[in-house]
Amino acid sequence: MVKSILVTAGPTREKIDPVRFISNYSTGTFGYELAREAGQRGCKVTLVSGPSGLTPPRGVKFISVETAEEMSRAIRKNPADCLIMAAAVCDWKAAKVSAKKLKKEGAIKTLRLKRNPDILKELGRRKRGLAVGFALETENLEKNAIKKLKDKNLDIIIANRLGKKKPLFGLNNIDIIIIDRRGIKERYKNSSKKTLSKIILDKVLNYNI
Ligand code: CTP
Repeated sequence: MVKSILVTAGPTREKIDPVRFISNYSTGTFGYELAREAGQRGCKVTLVSGPSGLTPPRGVKFISVETAEEMSRAIRKNPADCLIMAAAVCDWKAAKVSAKKLKKEGAIKTLRLKRNPDILKELGRRKRGLAVGFALETENLEKNAIKKLKDKNLDIIIANRLGKKKPLFGLNNIDIIIIDRRGIKERYKNSSKKTLSKIILDKVLNYNI
């Protein structure tokens, strides 16, 4: 039975030099709603969040992080019955963080990227509880989401299509498909993140591992 839940939220931020970073437009809203809902259901909740500016829900253990490495460390230190990975983790970081501010021309010659760890995939390999991931896709939504569910050894994946006309992040009402490892698919259209958080929590708390 799921009694403790760790939710990750928001973007990560990867330093380039003292004044610049790589990040993305994630607002963190979905993760914070999920953490709030899990708390209201009486779960012991840890929220690990990248920079978001949102106020953490009351009663949850809140851990603020910046980079993917810090997020990974915080997850390992706070094991839970269920991990919900709603964070938009940067896939790349600077190969070397410059101690000095990079110069206009210098940056073009010296800036190299390297891969960040895939946190969910690493945890999925030796998971002991329930693992829930998200898949953000602009095309082949279902196919790519199912591939991620299998590759990362997840129990549930929330597939979220990024529309061509709509803004990529920051919308409150979204379309998602919830897919579980048994192949059950549930589709929700134009629903708020609050409503979807209740639906996801219902599924998580009734899921037989
Ligand atoms: N994720 C992660 N560590 C990363 C990248 C992603 O843990 N370095 C997690 C996300 O939190 C999400 C899931 O993996 O729950 C899928 O993230 P997504 O960005 O959709 O896919 P990627 O695995 O990064 O693959 P790609 O960007 O190539 O589609």
